[in-house]
Amino acid sequence: MTDGRALAREFLEQQRQLGGNPVILPDLPGSGMRDAGSVAPPPPAPAHPASRIPSPDLPPPGISYDPPGGDLFSNDPVPQAVSLEAIAQLVASCTKCRLCEGRRHTVPGEGAAEARLVVVGEGPGRVEDETGRPFVGPAGELLTKILGAIELPRERVFICNVVKCRPPENRLPQFDEIAACVPYLFRQIEIVKPKVILAMGGTAAQTLLNTKQSLGALRNLVHRFRGIPLIVTYHPAALLRNPNWKKPTWDDVRIARRLIG
Ligand code: URA
Ligand code: SF4
Repeated sequence: MTDGRALAREFLEQQRQLGGNPVILPDLPGSGMRDAGSVAPPPPAPAHPASRIPSPDLPPPGISYDPPGGDLFSNDPVPQAVSLEAIAQLVASCTKCRLCEGRRHTVPGEGAAEARLVVVGEGPGRVEDETGRPFVGPAGELLTKILGAIELPRERVFICNVVKCRPPENRLPQFDEIAACVPYLFRQIEIVKPKVILAMGGTAAQTLLNTKQSLGALRNLVHRFRGIPLIVTYHPAALLRNPNWKKPTWDDVRIARRLIG
């Protein structure tokens, strides 16, 4: 069993070696994303003595997904919920899919309603189910370190999952479970209106972009969900199993950080 703390320490050390203070993220020449088709990157900016941080261009645009909003004139309370607390209350009594049967607690998500970053995982694990809080087990410990490294304390982001109840034995959430649960996530994102969404792992990425493409194919692009820039990266639990993915994950979160501004 990999030690999450040791991995997190290594992760932080790696960032240090990669460029000192990860928070100084120099602006790029030019304003926005380059076109998917453009070939010539801008000439590298002269190195500033105060910054040893590499200044890579932003990745090209990827998928843009704009799911239809809920029907405001139906009796469905989800699209009408006006706060994160209201969503959490609806989730607490939800029985729309079979995952309600095995849960101890629902895990709606937590964090700041005015967060600039929304982090989306897959679904609650054992510790999350026991506590009702997202990302508090070993993967959560690593996520907290990753967020700290880009100077976004946990309390200042909103952290949630695609499904709000724990799948038995931590299996992948099934298609119909995701379909039943995803209106809560969509409404949460609508309420928070973040500047950036970080999709951690294949389930979050594929759900938020409405695609079956692999995580590998989805990384390193600036996607959009309802117009909000969305970055795809590895799930922290996968990172605990595969330390080789630490460097690419760090690259991804730095891109998210730069998009937040
Ligand atoms: N893994 C997730 O995807 N979400 C959590 O909340 C915890 C672990
Ligand atoms: Fe409801 Fe989502 Fe829990 Fe299923 S996983 S019971 S849809 S809250």
